[in-house]
Parts: sequence; structure tokens; C-alpha cells
Amino acid sequence: MTGLSSRTEPASPRKPFGKLEALVRETGKGAIRGLYSIWAATYDKMLVAMLGYQAPDFVARALAPLLPEGEIRVLDVGCGTGLTAEALLAHRKVEVDGIDFSPEMIERARGKGIYGEFFRADVTRPLPIPAGTYDAAISSGLFTHGHVGAEAIPHVLKAIRPGGLFAFSVYWKVWDRGGFSKMLAKLEAGGEIEILHNERESHFRTLKGQQIHTVVVRVTG
Ligand SMILES: C[S@@+](CC[C@H](N)C(=O)[O-])C[C@H]1O[C@@H](n2cnc3c(N)ncnc32)[C@H](O)[C@@H]1O
Repeated sequence: MTGLSSRTEPASPRKPFGKLEALVRETGKGAIRGLYSIWAATYDKMLVAMLGYQAPDFVARALAPLLPEGEIRVLDVGCGTGLTAEALLAHRKVEVDGIDFSPEMIERARGKGIYGEFFRADVTRPLPIPAGTYDAAISSGLFTHGHVGAEAIPHVLKAIRPGGLFAFSVYWKVWDRGGFSKMLAKLEAGGEIEILHNERESHFRTLKGQQIHTVVVRVTG
């Protein structure tokens, strides 16, 4: 298990606000960690039972038929309380590890007894995982406002073997603002990924007008 670093990036002489920007980013992360430390106990009840949260099911349904036969190792990125792994396991028997920066959310996920290993780490930084470890990665609810932008995608792709898959949801309002459209186009143009699936679907059964992209990419580089 890996501890979190709260180190901020040094200000670059060419970017006088670099240090300030880095501090604001760190404060934002602190607030998000604080939110989940409080929310962990009631998260599943509120999202699934009350709102009909669909993102874990969508990414699981998009990924499962594309997985090859045999033993499969999957990394659940921003695993939270484990809803995404639960959704995937309903479709396909796989081994799942989880990564998240909230100890409280990880403890909830651990309590479900469906994960192997957990990594406590910030996914906007290089992951504490050797390159090419996983056959696939899955993520829902992480790429949304105030959370994590497209800068985390190359870190996740590094943990996946060539030919492996990454299935994830992106809240539609951060698709451009969070850099996802640009990042995916750049990775595809550079021959690092192939985009297999990108659909917009309803985020919650009970809230109309809230959408997510469900995306699956294959690591080709
Ligand atoms: C909306 S929850 C999604 C949890 C789960 N995947 C789901 O769909 O229910 C977002 C999760 O991302 C985690 N998270 C947010 N920012 C993160 C970061 N920079 N690094 C690692 N985990 C992060 C939070 O701790 C939280 O567990």
C-alpha cells in the first residue's frame, strides 16, 4: 500500500503562478478527500438506492464482452466503495485490485471481500504499479467535475499491458473542459490507443438530463 505525498510542484520561473496553481490543486484534492471521508458510510445507499446511479453498470457492460478468455487481472481506478468491481463481477469472473486516495472509501470496498490488493494513491500522479501489470482497467465516477481530469489517463494506460483495455465513464460537462476529447484524440493520433466505444448515456435513472460518456479504449502503443 502506498502513502500519499502532499508535496506541491515547485514554481517554474516561466510560470510565476505555478506554485499558486499547484496549491489550489492540492487544496481541491483535500476537499475531495474530506468529502469522501464523510460520505463513505452512506455513499452506496444514496447513489444506488436513491438516485439509480448507472455508470458502474455501463462501463462493466461495455468492457465485459471485449475481455479475452482466461484469467484476467483488472485495476479499478477510483474504486471508491467497490460499485464498479461489483458491476463487472456480475458479468465476468475476474481478479480485481483497487486504487483510490480515500482510506474511508477503500475500507468500504475492502469490506465487500471482492478485491485482491488495494493501492492508496493519487491517480493524477504516476501510479505505484509496474508497467503492463493489468489486462484491463475500469473506472466510473472518477472523471467528473472537481475530481480528476484527463491528465490521469496516461498513468492508467501505463499499468495496462499492450492489447489491454480501459473502460471508463466521463461526466459529459467535463468531456471538453477536463481535456478528455483532446487527450483521447492525441493518444489515438499517436498510435497509443484505439477507441473502441464512446456512447453518451443517462447518468442516473432518477435524474434526467445528467449524462456520461462511456468509453472503451485498447492500448496499442
Ligand atoms: C464518485 S466516486 C466513484 C467511486 C466508484 N468508482 C463508483 O463509481 O461508485 C469518486 C472516487 O474517486 C476517488 N478520487 C477522487 N480523486 C482522486 C484522485 N486524485 N486519486 C485517487 N482517487 C481519487 C474518490 O476518493 C472516490 O472514491
